[in-house]
Amino acid sequence: MTSEVITNRVGGVLTITIARPDKKNALTNAMYGALADAIDSAASDREIRVILFQGEGDSFTAGNDIGEFAAQAAGSGPAERHVFRFLDSLARTSIPVVAAVQGKAVGVGTTMLLHCDYVILTEDAQLITPFINLALVPEAASSYLLPLRIGHARAFEMFAFGDPLPAATALAWGIANRVVPNAELQSEARRAAERIAAKPHGSMTAMKQLMRDVAKLASQMDAERAIFTKRLESDEAREAFTAFAEKRQPDFTKIQMR
Ligand code: COA
Repeated sequence: MTSEVITNRVGGVLTITIARPDKKNALTNAMYGALADAIDSAASDREIRVILFQGEGDSFTAGNDIGEFAAQAAGSGPAERHVFRFLDSLARTSIPVVAAVQGKAVGVGTTMLLHCDYVILTEDAQLITPFINLALVPEAASSYLLPLRIGHARAFEMFAFGDPLPAATALAWGIANRVVPNAELQSEARRAAERIAAKPHGSMTAMKQLMRDVAKLASQMDAERAIFTKRLESDEAREAFTAFAEKRQPDFTKIQMR
């Protein structure tokens, strides 16, 4: 267990809070494990009708802990990577998922939103998919879900440049349901979650299952994983992780093409 993921059930709503604000809620292997456990336990708890994700502090999450990426690249990563369990559980759950997102949502912080059913952003929220800048590839089936959601041209732009997408654009492109002032994020998310919880749960979960092709998502994640894992060990990725640790821009120009 880690104290950096906090779960709390009130009524039919299970709130899962990412709580590592001093590191912008960057996700460690232990935190992914706790997130996966929380989603899995919700499936066997008949009281839980909605899952609500939120983050502490000024950012939803800075994505995967880059120090842990570097350790994996150096061959000293954990035996089991819980991120896979987390993404599988999130992709498979039939419980509706609400996300309340403030500030930066980086990497998996953005791609996980494509598996959420109702997304509320603050006005200052920015969605960032910087996989290319880390010499990686998109994950969480986002290489399939993002073009499906917003079209190839926009998805390519997000993935190829890795520039922050402002909340208003994310709303216009259909990645989010609503944009609200920061002070209203928690109350609006709670209200949406409670409205969903009050609906007939059997109908809600059946509807969600009809709306999602879980087998397709699983096969896309398998394909992404194989390439992502190889890319993690590439010279390009090593340069990106070292640059982050040294607080400098990466220089990919000296790396030989193979
Ligand atoms: N992994 C590990 N640590 C991270 C992190 C990450 N993904 N993101 C932020 N942190 C740490 C920083 O190293 C810093 O730690 P320090 O105080 O010990 O130096 C602390 O969190 C605060 O981050 P900082 O960069 O100073 O905050 P910021 O507001 O200037 O920028 C971000 C916030 C999220 C834009 C920036 O931290 C960032 O780009 N992080 C990397 C995001 C990323 O590429 N994630 C991987 C996605 S696949």
